[in-house]
Amino acid sequence: MAVTYELLNTCSYSRARRGRLHTPHGVIETPVFMPVGTQATVKTMSPEELKEIGAQIILSNTYHLFLRPGHELIREAGGLHGFMNWDRAILTDSGGFQVFSLSSLRKISEEGVEFRSHLSGEKLFLSPEKAIEIENALGADIIMAFDECPPFPAAREYLKDSAERTFRWLKRCKEAHRRPYDQALFGIVQGGMERDLRRESAEQITSIDLPGYAIGGLSVGEPKPIMYEVLEYTTPLLPKDKPRYLMGVGSPDDLFEGVERGIDMFDCVLPTRIARNGTCMTSIGKLVIRNAQYAKDFSKLDPNCSCYTCSNYSRAYIRHLLKADEIFGLRLTTIHNLYFLIELMKKIRQAIEEDRFLQFKKDFYTSYGYN
Ligand code: GUN
Ligand code: ZN
Repeated sequence: MAVTYELLNTCSYSRARRGRLHTPHGVIETPVFMPVGTQATVKTMSPEELKEIGAQIILSNTYHLFLRPGHELIREAGGLHGFMNWDRAILTDSGGFQVFSLSSLRKISEEGVEFRSHLSGEKLFLSPEKAIEIENALGADIIMAFDECPPFPAAREYLKDSAERTFRWLKRCKEAHRRPYDQALFGIVQGGMERDLRRESAEQITSIDLPGYAIGGLSVGEPKPIMYEVLEYTTPLLPKDKPRYLMGVGSPDDLFEGVERGIDMFDCVLPTRIARNGTCMTSIGKLVIRNAQYAKDFSKLDPNCSCYTCSNYSRAYIRHLLKADEIFGLRLTTIHNLYFLIELMKKIRQAIEEDRFLQFKKDFYTSYGYN
């Protein structure tokens, strides 16, 4: 198998688990946060810098790379790994989410989705077979099945139809997959916020033997307690001996709440996106670096951080760079935010190993200013 999961230990009073994913591009300690590199680059960061902050795996997108520069070009370059010079693990999302959030004029049928490119306006088509053909060409270690991610809120009938379609599409994805020996196909559970539909979807998706399973259709605008409730009843329906991936989630509280409910993998554009508009996650809470109060603040961005940014630059300097629209400012805040989340996951892993996850969570919430 392309990817195997090793469960190391489980927290004694929650579902938090410490594990390890073995991939063709290295071992991934879980729970893990995956930085997002939509266009075959984590915006502003070089692969060397990503390694330096401890990124074990990054995520990229079928939808974007299909539109530009095209998967055949990337295949010719030696796949994503060769093209972008990243030798650690990569996961590609299938386009099943982006086609719904970015493109226009979508027409969904049993065959697939017809849509207009958000770049050129040209009419394109994605199906389970096409998405897998693209993902096989991109060559990531983990590839996601082509699914349908319904909006929130959505009518129950629609949620039921789309979850069942997602199941039929998964069977076609598995059939179309040409590289099961070095690319792990993950299935995606859907079903919106409806408990019985989630159960039905989880039963269907896990009836297909796959190296891992994801929970999709969350963090789509529903209140956080609703997402936690869906996780509460959905995660136990997934096999214990396979990795569980919560798609598109990555605020610090959501990472804790997800881990507590048994999630092993997360990805989110949040840390990199908010970095570029000047919001930094620090050990003492969110800090909006553009605020006037930091104009003459020569202290570190985060007093308790030892990233490149915090080791070398002051709040005043970073604020100046962002105010002056200097690219270096975006690099400094991105490095810090990613380091912060990657370190947070490292601390979470250690806390699970030492069976003090809930105490660690409590302490973090207090210092970050949650509750
Ligand atoms: N990213 C965030 N949510 C989803 C989802 O439901 N499906 C897919 N394919 N990607 C996602
Ligand atoms: Zn820092």
